[in-house]
Amino acid sequence: MAASPFSDLNPPPRLIMGPGPVDADPRVLRAMSMPLLGQFDPAFTAYMNEVMALYRGVYQTKNKWTFLIDGTARAGIEALLVSLIAPGDRVLVPVFGRFGHLLTEIARRCGAEVHTIEAPWGQVLDPNRVEDSVRTVKPRLIACVHGDTSTTMAQPLEEIVRIGHRHDALVYTDATATLGGMDVAVDRWGVDAISAGLQKCMSGPPGSAPISFNERVASHINQRKHVEQGIKAEGAVEGNGPVIQSNYFDLAMLMDYWGESRLNHHTEATSMLYAARECARIVLEEGLAARVARHETASRAIVAGLKAMNLEIFGDPAHKMPNVTGIVIPAKVDGERVRHDLLHDFGIEIGTSFGPLKGKIWRIGTMGYGCQKRSVLICLNALEAVLRQQGYAATPGAGVDTALSEYRKAGA
Ligand SMILES: Cc1ncc(COP(=O)(O)O)c(C=O)c1O
Repeated sequence: MAASPFSDLNPPPRLIMGPGPVDADPRVLRAMSMPLLGQFDPAFTAYMNEVMALYRGVYQTKNKWTFLIDGTARAGIEALLVSLIAPGDRVLVPVFGRFGHLLTEIARRCGAEVHTIEAPWGQVLDPNRVEDSVRTVKPRLIACVHGDTSTTMAQPLEEIVRIGHRHDALVYTDATATLGGMDVAVDRWGVDAISAGLQKCMSGPPGSAPISFNERVASHINQRKHVEQGIKAEGAVEGNGPVIQSNYFDLAMLMDYWGESRLNHHTEATSMLYAARECARIVLEEGLAARVARHETASRAIVAGLKAMNLEIFGDPAHKMPNVTGIVIPAKVDGERVRHDLLHDFGIEIGTSFGPLKGKIWRIGTMGYGCQKRSVLICLNALEAVLRQQGYAATPGAGVDTALSEYRKAGA
């Protein structure tokens, strides 16, 4: 037998404190190593049903249609948009960062007539502006990101949903960066369709996208139901709307796969389902309110610590996501050098951003399993050290001392 040209996998130890992915909870990694099961094994279909029930808890919804799309977070986005949008539909996207542009781009590929309304990066949209646009555009769908990691801002959604419904539009939101870290109350807010990923506040690896949608959305999608010829049962009822332009992301067929009829579609990604199941169990065991509070405490601590190092926090503080913090890179500091030194001297990863913010800000994620007091303190300490190496004047220990005091105040 020939020796493998490559050594055993042995990833270097890291503290991943970028905007996601972040460190996975070891319980999730353990769950992923469990033996595979056949997709129609009753033990496996029971796990599928458990996943649906668990994510109803995480999303705070009674939506029957709450399940997983196999793929990273954008697979969930694409599945909902391609199944909801028929070519020519009018879609309004409020854009306040990179991921609003992503929704725009996906909606365009679905053949929508897309209208956008933009806020400068670092701010969110004024609901009155959104309502004015809705009046003019008359969209069938409003697609809005909840928390945009590229800018660290979170758009308050309740008002957007109210506006949408006042004007008879459906509202979809991308909660990839907020689920498991901020309050995401699908039924209370009335959001019609929502998607997320695992690799941020859900403490899992990328590769599975939990989604949820209500009956109004389901009935729109079922009007476009066309089942693959090779699995179609005799007398199957189909819709008369235009065919959904993706097979993999066809939610009409996926409802048949996850629903009682268990009509085969793709082969469910077994190990990712185990991961998603464990992520949701961990979130619900901790409790949604406790989890949100943990992220908010970390945010207060890290912001206070950074300010004590004379660093400027990026963006509108009233709309800052608690699970990611943007820092303006000070003049005369080489931002990429700082990230390099953090990684190579301390094994800590932090992020920069995209587009207009590339090289202008760093982003530190305090998400899910990675949102721990010790991580915050270690990261501040390391950041201070690498900054001082570049001649940046920070009072030694001020960042960590201040962050620690915030944690003490919160009793954490
Ligand atoms: C708000 C938001 N939406 C979508 C995505 C895309 O996720 P993925 O890379 O898992 O497809 C991300 C990833 O950073 C995100 O932060």
